[in-house]
Amino acid sequence: MDYRGTTARSRLAYHIMVAIYAVQDFIVKGQERTLDGFGIAAGSTIVDYGCGPGRYLGTASRLAGPSGRVYAADISEVALQYAARRVQGLGLANVTLLPIRDGRCAIPDTSADLVYALDMFHAVRDPKAFLAEIHRFTKPGGTLILEDGHQPRAVTCRKLLGADGWRIEEETRWHLRCTRC
Ligand SMILES: C[S@@+](CC[C@H](N)C(=O)[O-])C[C@H]1O[C@@H](n2cnc3c(N)ncnc32)[C@H](O)[C@@H]1O
Repeated sequence: MDYRGTTARSRLAYHIMVAIYAVQDFIVKGQERTLDGFGIAAGSTIVDYGCGPGRYLGTASRLAGPSGRVYAADISEVALQYAARRVQGLGLANVTLLPIRDGRCAIPDTSADLVYALDMFHAVRDPKAFLAEIHRFTKPGGTLILEDGHQPRAVTCRKLLGADGWRIEEETRWHLRCTRC
């Protein structure tokens, strides 16, 4: 799927994906459970990298609290339009939406306590550059929660270990918890 949504076909595919997410979330309410396990502390700076339509942003905003901050970034214009509607609709004052262009976004250097990248790592074309950008804006000792997405765990680990500056701390059924060295 072309996540950048530059063609009518890829835009349609994105709208279909969002509709499927809406049904899943209505039935399972999985987005609440998922973030609760990450250990997001009140007052911390969180990044939802590859945020898509922003289905986790309400929970992330609540967990980070009024003194915390949530950056939500994506390469897709369509994703950010959906996320903007959600941020506005829920009145999430501590959430900032950012586009990712040429693999870079405007999150300040070494500012994030915790970054999560869910259901998207399989789609990243240049994992090394991707992990280097997350490394740039994560604090030393900060955390990256990296979900496998649609790829085997061994592939996630190989890509992670092929990049500099990350250590795997824990593996769960769904994701790797990594520390920024
Ligand atoms: C399947 S959606 C998942 C959205 C969200 N993380 C979730 O779990 O609900 C994948 C998202 O990752 C984004 N994406 C794909 N490649 C990316 C990259 N290299 N950097 C950042 N975002 C990317 C896509 O635009 C899309 O919005």
